[in-house]
Amino acid sequence: MIKFTLNGRVVETKAPATMRLLDVLREEFNLIGTKEGCGEGECGACSVFVNNQLQNSCLIPIGSIAGAEVQTIENLIETERFKILDESYSIAGGVQCGFCIPGMIMASAALLSNNPQPSEAEIREGISGNLCRCTGYNMIVDAIKLAAKKGDGVWQKK
Ligand code: FES
Ligand code: FES
Repeated sequence: MIKFTLNGRVVETKAPATMRLLDVLREEFNLIGTKEGCGEGECGACSVFVNNQLQNSCLIPIGSIAGAEVQTIENLIETERFKILDESYSIAGGVQCGFCIPGMIMASAALLSNNPQPSEAEIREGISGNLCRCTGYNMIVDAIKLAAKKGDGVWQKK
């Protein structure tokens, strides 16, 4: 049995230790906001926070998660940070098909939490692990700039 904290709640799973965190989240806990794109650590669609660090859940065996804190998009949605990102992505037209967006939002939140006033180059670097096939990235970059402005003071809070 592997015990860990998932979205603020202590949970246990009987999944084999080599099963991917991504599959445990989606199949056992029905947290389907975390997407599978490449399955190889290249696209960022499966991004979650593990101990507050942005990680690709397709690369993490559940056995290594024992005792860790995992946060998915379903939990981020409850926060003021999400509200700011949601509004900013809407205003900037940063969402098209939407497949990359949960991972992109996780990456945006990680970026702004570490660097509340990023330069454009820092924004592009911050989302460089997340692929989007639709937007050409410029609207996503605009969304993050707007979220930095709208969320002034919010990103600094722990
Ligand atoms: S599905 Fe994990 S990085 Fe692409
Ligand atoms: S909005 Fe379609 S992949 Fe990004």
